Amino acid sequence: MNVNDIRRILIVGTGTMGQKIALQCARFGYDVIAYDSKPAALDDARTRIAAHAHEVVEKKLMTRAESDAALARIRYTANPEDGAAADLVSESVFEDVELKGRVFGQFDRICRPDAIFTTNTSTLLPSMWAAATGRPDRFLALHFYDVWEANADRIKRDYVDRGWLGVKSGRGFHTYPNPAWSRPDFITGLQGGACT
Ligand SMILES: NC(=O)c1ccc[n+]([C@@H]2O[C@H](COP(=O)([O-])OP(=O)(O)OC[C@H]3O[C@@H](n4cnc5c(N)ncnc54)[C@H](O)[C@@H]3O)[C@@H](O)[C@H]2O)c1
Repeated sequence: MNVNDIRRILIVGTGTMGQKIALQCARFGYDVIAYDSKPAALDDARTRIAAHAHEVVEKKLMTRAESDAALARIRYTANPEDGAAADLVSESVFEDVELKGRVFGQFDRICRPDAIFTTNTSTLLPSMWAAATGRPDRFLALHFYDVWEANADRIKRDYVDRGWLGVKSGRGFHTYPNPAWSRPDFITGLQGGACT
């Protein structure tokens, strides 16, 4: 599978960041499977994602019709097996090394071998879970922050296949590498910025 073939994105953990990433993916046309192990967290996510969508409309970053279409592309589930259809997994569970390792192992068994796995970790290293994913060459940190404006950065690591995945995977979210903010191992993207 090529990065351009990505259609379905599985969000694992629908807390603060999972909610924003789910909406951001849906905004740019991806079908989103929003999974959390706690049903109450899913109820909360549904309410908050609608509120975030309203905020994005207020900022004139999308229209009401685009917001409605984006919200309709998000499906909520407490059943991890629903993740089997995912082309890309975006993990946003608690910042806990062992928990993230268990989660990647769980979805390695559920997802297709060619699915791309990503972590939204802020402070840990993706190499900690490369083996647990069962696909170290298809695993990277795709880190979202300041979600609506600066959107995402991609942390390149040696084991990511020549770094191409890290650069290209942000393009689906309309972010482009910003050389001024980037370092060799840390590419920062700007939404709608110039493509370099
Ligand atoms: N909060 C931020 O500002 C921020 C910014 C950038 C990156 N991050 C990173 O994003 C990740 C998530 O942070 P957050 O602030 O959204 O956390 P959060 O506490 O708001 O949400 C975590 C969610 O994970 C769920 N969860 C826990 N165990 C799970 C499991 N086994 N399966 C599925 N879901 C599970 C919880 O129910 C909860 O809904 C962390 O790695 C953090 O470092 C956070």
